[in-house]
Amino acid sequence: MMCLLPLVLCTLAASCRASFPAQQAVTPSTVQSRGCNDKDVVSFAKFALEDINKDRRDGYVLSLNRVSDAREQRQGNGMGSLYYLTLDVLETECHVLSEKSSKDCEKRSLHESVYGQCKALFYINQSKRILYTPAYNCTLRPVSRRYIQMMCPDCPSPSDLSDPRVLEAARESLAKFNRESASKQYSLDKVTKASSQWVNGQAYYVEYLIKESPCTKSQVCTLQSSNAQPVGICKGSLTQVRKEKFVSADCYFFKSQETAFGSKTSAVKQTQQKSTNPSISASNTVSRGSVQNLPDLDDEKTKGSQKRGPVEDFPVNLDLTTNPQGDTLDVSFLFIGPGEEKLLVLPFPNKEKRSANCPGPAQEANPSILPP
Ligand SMILES: *[C@@H]1O[C@H](CO)[C@@H](O)[C@H](O)[C@H]1NC(C)=O
Ligand SMILES: *[C@@H]1O[C@H](CO)[C@@H](O)[C@H](O)[C@H]1NC(C)=O
Repeated sequence: MMCLLPLVLCTLAASCRASFPAQQAVTPSTVQSRGCNDKDVVSFAKFALEDINKDRRDGYVLSLNRVSDAREQRQGNGMGSLYYLTLDVLETECHVLSEKSSKDCEKRSLHESVYGQCKALFYINQSKRILYTPAYNCTLRPVSRRYIQMMCPDCPSPSDLSDPRVLEAARESLAKFNRESASKQYSLDKVTKASSQWVNGQAYYVEYLIKESPCTKSQVCTLQSSNAQPVGICKGSLTQVRKEKFVSADCYFFKSQETAFGSKTSAVKQTQQKSTNPSISASNTVSRGSVQNLPDLDDEKTKGSQKRGPVEDFPVNLDLTTNPQGDTLDVSFLFIGPGEEKLLVLPFPNKEKRSANCPGPAQEANPSILPP
């Protein structure tokens, strides 16, 4: 129902434009479906996802698998376009704190895949060279364990991050790294990924963030590095074969540890922050979205089979407004001039009226890592 009005506007504007082809769309703005294989759409989608990755402090860099839906809303008075993008994504091997671009990050192998969907608003004003993602939300799930057990019974399977043996593996691995470190010592920030497998004994594989420890090598460390930020990420393992332990550790240090936590947005020149009273608040200091991690879909289906109504597999809400006429979003901070610049934002369009060219072609077409 929320989409009724935009649709009416669309038809009106389409007929308007048919009779005055030279005239630019004026307020109210129009929404049109765009092809998911459209070159511009794909490049905007990649840009938006990079922007999302830069905004995050937690989790792994996401890469674009395919564009699932794209709508363009031309703004009145030639302000450019606001896109409503639905993107199917895959987790890469890089942590977001590495600030690496997804194209420089390795894909995860199928058995350790995490996949999902993001919704994002993406604003482009070509003449002012503004590309900006005012809001996003994503939902991720691990690849089905049942499917992996079928395809690759010997592959490691994901472990609960709170499993004490996972924590032990991370501690043992870090202890090895610290023993081999020249002087600096590191402490465990948190475990970010874990899996286990039987190889002559139970083997645990972990990924964990580390921070600098206030202690040096010669001290017995009792000090806590409380609010220090993570400086790197390690991959480690612990295999116990009878009485013998095999431990490994391999750490990667983030390049710019200070700037990793500054609020940064690409293609945004923040000159002055004007305080007006926008209906929806937009700025580059407030968090613009979040990534939600949900469990294996199979677990949920067996557990909650008596749930009422159809439940979406990858629920992602991005409702800056529920007003069918839309609300204004102040984006003045994106512009250098003194004027007030506002966008009209509509409720996020639902999937029904997407273009026949959607979803676009997938990089990884395996249906087990594609949201429906
Ligand atoms: C970009 O925004 C400015 C408003 O500052 C507007 O005058 C201009 O026409 C816009 N250009 C495009 C291509 O959207
Ligand atoms: C994004 O998702 C969270 C829950 O995951 C929700 O609380 C929030 O309202 C969503 N943001 C928008 C703009 O809809």
